[in-house]
Amino acid sequence: MNVIVITGASSGIGKEFALQMDAHFSNIDEFWLIARRRDLLEELAGRLSHRARIFSMDITREGQRERLEDALAEKGAVVRMLVNCAGYGLMGRFAASEPEGQLGMIRLNCEALTGITHLMLPYMRRGSRILQLASSAAFLPQTGFGVYAATKSYVLSFSRSLGAELRDRGIYVTSVCPGPVDTPFFDIAQKNGSTLRIKKYIMVPAERVVRQALKDSYYKRQLSVCGLPVKGFALLCKAVPHSALLKLIGILEKGNL
Ligand SMILES: NC(=O)c1ccc[n+]([C@@H]2O[C@H](COP(=O)([O-])OP(=O)(O)OC[C@H]3O[C@@H](n4cnc5c(N)ncnc54)[C@H](OP(=O)(O)O)[C@@H]3O)[C@@H](O)[C@H]2O)c1
Repeated sequence: MNVIVITGASSGIGKEFALQMDAHFSNIDEFWLIARRRDLLEELAGRLSHRARIFSMDITREGQRERLEDALAEKGAVVRMLVNCAGYGLMGRFAASEPEGQLGMIRLNCEALTGITHLMLPYMRRGSRILQLASSAAFLPQTGFGVYAATKSYVLSFSRSLGAELRDRGIYVTSVCPGPVDTPFFDIAQKNGSTLRIKKYIMVPAERVVRQALKDSYYKRQLSVCGLPVKGFALLCKAVPHSALLKLIGILEKGNL
């Protein structure tokens, strides 16, 4: 049985991946949709033309991810695509933050993503693809968004090395690094802090990010960056010392830009 596995499928970018892959992919028997909110997953499943299996679970909780492994073994599944979208960010100064929220980002964005990737690998075959949702925040440390940016640097670094390790098996890993995307992500992220206003002007719809990511994955690219402003930002982060960029961001923050 050929399956596509998507974490964070109940909302935003993950949901958009499900909709676009449903429209364009054949030879897939089932979509496996993972997130906590069952009602939203059921609603999405109802919109797909393919069969969908719902895994309503908190993937950071002990013992939950093993349910996936049991299902993979029981169904003799071949994972054609794994899309790791589940993630959240919290803005605000670290010293003033609640530790639970900060540690939770590490558990979800890093630990759960790593755990799920590891348990899927034995069920992948030549031509399988992995898409890991990193972020443009992976390119530069970010004041007021420090732990989130660090988790995304982890995702990017881990995914690059994994891609190199898996090349001989014919499995391709793409790190998706969007800038601001118009999803409910910011409702959570801005609970205790706000972002640079400039980000609102370069925000793109999830449809564009996902279209670009699927194209980049098809062409076996390691990195997917959507839109000129984010490509420019990526170049800047390579060319200019990060200490200088952090100073510049500090000035923009003070000017409330
Ligand atoms: N939006 C942006 O500007 C942006 C930019 C760059 C990168 N990203 C990254 O893109 C990914 C998707 O974000 P999004 O914009 O689509 O945000 P979103 O709409 O808030 O979606 C986040 C998804 O993660 C799931 N999730 C959260 N905690 C979970 C848990 N403990 N267990 C299982 N699922 C969980 C949520 O589902 P439930 O609540 O139902 O569990 C939801 O489906 C994230 O990794 C984010 O860091 C977003």
